[in-house]
Amino acid sequence: MAGSSFINTGMEVKTAKFIVSNTDYKKCPAPTKPEYAFIGRSNVGKSSLINMLCNQKALAKTSSNPGKTQLINHFDINDEWYLVDLPGYGYAKVSKVQRAKWEKFIRTYLKNRENLYNVFVLIDSRIDPQKIDLEFMEWLGKNGIPFSIVFTKADKLRQNQLSRNIKAYRKKLLETWEELPVQFTTSSETELGKPELLSYIDSINKNS
Ligand code: GTP
Ligand code: MG
Repeated sequence: MAGSSFINTGMEVKTAKFIVSNTDYKKCPAPTKPEYAFIGRSNVGKSSLINMLCNQKALAKTSSNPGKTQLINHFDINDEWYLVDLPGYGYAKVSKVQRAKWEKFIRTYLKNRENLYNVFVLIDSRIDPQKIDLEFMEWLGKNGIPFSIVFTKADKLRQNQLSRNIKAYRKKLLETWEELPVQFTTSSETELGKPELLSYIDSINKNS
């Protein structure tokens, strides 16, 4: 076959199993496999993205109402690595006490989970850079937690608007970051970005 027709299809998700939900990182599965967590504002599309990556409709619970995911949810992929669905931050309708409680257990998990190889920070591609996301990424940076950016819901924008928004986001990040993190543009509707995300995870797994 001609070299030019070679396509790196990355990794395939053959099995995806829900393992456990909890709020205490100490009760998460034994940290023996590489782990990847998905986080971002409520309703940004974390659970939908996980389902898309795993070829399933309802593995992670989704909802049009923000605040659906409330716990640290572990999924075992191919018996090789863990994928983690986290609650969203910045949901206005929860009480201050509840919000502080979530913040605490999520940040404790992120800081202490020893097998956490990468955090995917999801950003809605339709909206301007939000302070809450920029501050969260700064916090990850300060704590030495590796992360990448995943722009979501790309199907809701025209191509030129999408490119403009992503360019503007990069420009904003360069005000505080010397180097930009790895970025992906995705849609859980059209599966845009699926092979790229899976090959990225695969390459980290292989180098670990
Ligand atoms: P919380 O668990 O509440 O923090 O939300 P979440 O980030 O897990 O979002 P979820 O996956 O539940 O999706 C929120 C809403 O956005 C749902 O109505 C999804 O159908 C919709 N949605 C998610 N991803 C996409 C996408 O790529 N394209 C479109 N058009 N809609 C999406
Ligand atoms: Mg969710």
